[in-house]
Amino acid sequence: DKGNYRHFMAKEIHEQPEVVGLALGHYLDFSAGRVALPFALPVNPASIDRLTICGCGTAYMAGLVAKYWFERFAGIEVNVELASEFRYAEPPLKADGLTLFISQSGETADVLASLRYAKARGQKTMGVVNVETSTLARECDLAVPIRAGTEIGVASTKAFTCQLAVLASLALAFGRERQAISDETEARLVGELMAVPGLMAEALRKDSLVEQIARDLSHAHDVLYLGRGTAYPLALEGALKLKELSYIHAEGYAAGELKHGPIALIDETMPVIVIAPPSPVLEKTISNMEEVAARGGKLILIGEAGLARDVADEVKRSLVLSPMAPDFAAMVYAIPVQLLAYHTAVVMGKDADQPRNLAKSVTVE
Ligand code: F6R
Repeated sequence: DKGNYRHFMAKEIHEQPEVVGLALGHYLDFSAGRVALPFALPVNPASIDRLTICGCGTAYMAGLVAKYWFERFAGIEVNVELASEFRYAEPPLKADGLTLFISQSGETADVLASLRYAKARGQKTMGVVNVETSTLARECDLAVPIRAGTEIGVASTKAFTCQLAVLASLALAFGRERQAISDETEARLVGELMAVPGLMAEALRKDSLVEQIARDLSHAHDVLYLGRGTAYPLALEGALKLKELSYIHAEGYAAGELKHGPIALIDETMPVIVIAPPSPVLEKTISNMEEVAARGGKLILIGEAGLARDVADEVKRSLVLSPMAPDFAAMVYAIPVQLLAYHTAVVMGKDADQPRNLAKSVTVE
């Protein structure tokens, strides 16, 4: 049932404050300001020196975001792998290490093959999974449900942010077990996570503004997405969403890579979407933004008020979000990124729930 929405995708985007709040509530003790996992981990996080994360598509992007969190909060080295590469690259894995698989459906063929490979190498395995009866949930050592509810739109939206909610909670749990964060830091970060659903609800109120920007975007042939830190995987995710739904060619880049090639593409016809959440390296992203503006590129800025101050009005459109702490801002900034792809597809008359050539669950390789 789509309720009052035109598409399941719109409904699922708007469900995020609620389902992310529920997912967080399952893994965090809000009143104590602590992570409270309702299960024992298959390994002691203090006894491993590396974490491998594996998935496809949007689930892989969630893994890329989580890498920053595990490294920062738990001080553990993280490798994020595409399941389709991992399974054939046959990477060395130490027995008793940990591989974490992320999959909405839990049926993606490359993920299951990678799971079986990791198990055969003696790895402990975890599955961050939505469908709790899936093959991944059954075959991994520990299934961690993301509790997003049934996702019908082919493009993953609420599963992505619920994956992030679970991965953030796990990163904090690892941080505590590895004594990489203090109780005070844990309490602060749990507080920041608790604020995410409310901030997502505020971001959803920008829906009609995003729709206006989507009208501009629908005329583009190519779109560049830029971001740094956790906003870099979000740039990749934005480009993936736009191309799969609107069939406009889009690419995501780490903002610092701009001058290593893609800057050659920039002219007056090229929209460049800069995802610029609060971050210790925001100034660096702002200078990348100025490089785009100087070449006449059409900037679309997603960030806090004041971000676009020095950029001429002719070259920019801005989507201003509320101030927030930097650590989990990527979860909130996922909302305008999803809305932009959705509205662009709808403006162009494409079927946002069922893009051509795509299946919800990729059970063949
Ligand atoms: C993109 C999208 C896909 C899936 C990918 C993995 O919007 O939905 O990229 O994320 O096919 O699917 P799961 O998570 O079911 O393994």
